[in-house]
Amino acid sequence: MVKPIESTPTEGPTTAPPPAARPRRLTRRRLLKAGFIGVPAVLGLAAAGTGIVYAVHDVDTVGKVDFDQPLAIPPLAPARTDGGRRVFDLQATAGTRQFRPGRPTTTWGFDNGFLGPTVRANRGDTVQLNVRNGLDVPTTVHWHGMHLPAVMDGGPHQLIGPGAVWQPTWTIDQPAATLWYHPHPHDQTALHVYRGMAGLLLIDDPEQTAASRLPTEYGVDDIPVIVQDKNFDGDNQFDAGWSRLGNVGILGDTVLVNGTVGPYLDVVTERVRLRILNGSTARVYNFGFADDRSFALVGTDGGLLSAPHATDRVQLSPGERAEIVVTLTPGERVVLRSYPPELGLDPLNERFTGGDDALDVLQLRAGAQLRPSPQPAATLAPAPALQAAADRVDRRFEMSGEQINGLVMDMGRIDFGVVRDTTEVWEVVSPFPRPHNFHVHGAQFQVLSVNGAPPPPELGGWKDTIYNPPEVTFRLAVRFDRHADRNVPFMFHCHLLLHEDKGMMGQFVVLEPGETVGTPGHSGHSTAPR
Ligand code: C2O
Ligand code: CU
Ligand code: CU
Repeated sequence: MVKPIESTPTEGPTTAPPPAARPRRLTRRRLLKAGFIGVPAVLGLAAAGTGIVYAVHDVDTVGKVDFDQPLAIPPLAPARTDGGRRVFDLQATAGTRQFRPGRPTTTWGFDNGFLGPTVRANRGDTVQLNVRNGLDVPTTVHWHGMHLPAVMDGGPHQLIGPGAVWQPTWTIDQPAATLWYHPHPHDQTALHVYRGMAGLLLIDDPEQTAASRLPTEYGVDDIPVIVQDKNFDGDNQFDAGWSRLGNVGILGDTVLVNGTVGPYLDVVTERVRLRILNGSTARVYNFGFADDRSFALVGTDGGLLSAPHATDRVQLSPGERAEIVVTLTPGERVVLRSYPPELGLDPLNERFTGGDDALDVLQLRAGAQLRPSPQPAATLAPAPALQAAADRVDRRFEMSGEQINGLVMDMGRIDFGVVRDTTEVWEVVSPFPRPHNFHVHGAQFQVLSVNGAPPPPELGGWKDTIYNPPEVTFRLAVRFDRHADRNVPFMFHCHLLLHEDKGMMGQFVVLEPGETVGTPGHSGHSTAPR
């Protein structure tokens, strides 16, 4: 049995520092580089009874992972054509997986019991997904990052009962991108995702792909990398307990990539494209290679960047994606690692929220001979260019505690309406030193500014989820094209799934010009804050 999601609140009081704590000027990485590890100060803070807990709360698997399992590649979902539609079947089922020696782990997943096939379609395709719920509890399937009508979005209002089939359909009209799908049932999302329900949803755009000269052979040089952290209990079952000290949700000590523990990938080409999804419930990863080599960041949540960005780190909070291209030399081995993330918190809060953790993720093993790969094009895609008045803010979202603007999710409450085919400027800020991120459904957004400055290169492309360090104000240009429905809401929320489930989420509708906000058809679910 998988344990219930809130099974093990752990030791001691929450130790949130006063709200007035200032954002750090020096990043943790710079401090580390400069040799200021900061441990004595932290131990001083933690001495009053939390010292032992502090010592226990970091995960370091660097150099300790045996990369002895070939990386599983999720199969491509078969598609058939029916009346001009590309039709895919997905079935949610319970299953088991042999992750480790001993008893198999009870899981949930699509089709084969853990994760799901990669759904791949072209821009311009009309797709239909037949989603059958073979579980004994209701669930939903949300198409994270997709522009579509709200009724097809798979949020908490589109529940699929046990045994039922849901058949959303829409026409894909957005740039090539690495999206994903996962359940979104009201206050149950963390559990469903943690048990294994998630898969990739790839949009292709053949013209753009050819021009970008990026690797495209799925499973050969274009590799899905779904990163999830798990804790196993003594009986090999997923342990869904989480610590009240961090209060971010489950922080696992075992990293799975595409469901593989200790994965290696045999690389056969000079360049390999990794489509990395942070499919974890709470953990923020700061990906880089063990030798600190530089790689090209070529895509983010909603599509390719305008140009490759050379870097040695890419940080992803839950739900975010990055496409990177890494160059290898024949015969070498190099480990993709997650370095301690830059959460922007004080040392104590960082410690309890995974900010000190370092995890070995995936070993790349280059063959003795590598097929040549072209250099990616210098220009990959048009940069987002939403026409937004930079000096006007239409809405502000304050992420604090487990609420947005002081409110807890209520399925019967629509927070606001936006008018179809208009661009709004949204300001998002997390005032306190706790980790949150911000995700919006039904759109990709353009980051206009970060604390008033132009966005860094990694935030220069289309995004649907951003990490919110404390006291950093993000201005986002958001546009909702085409699909209006005054009664069926889209969600905006923190994608730390514990927070989402506790109600750190709100709802909006897209209106035709002149319309007013309607009422959600589906309400009456429990909305009490917990
Ligand atoms: Cu990936 Cu509302 O979620
Ligand atoms: Cu989403
Ligand atoms: Cu949050």
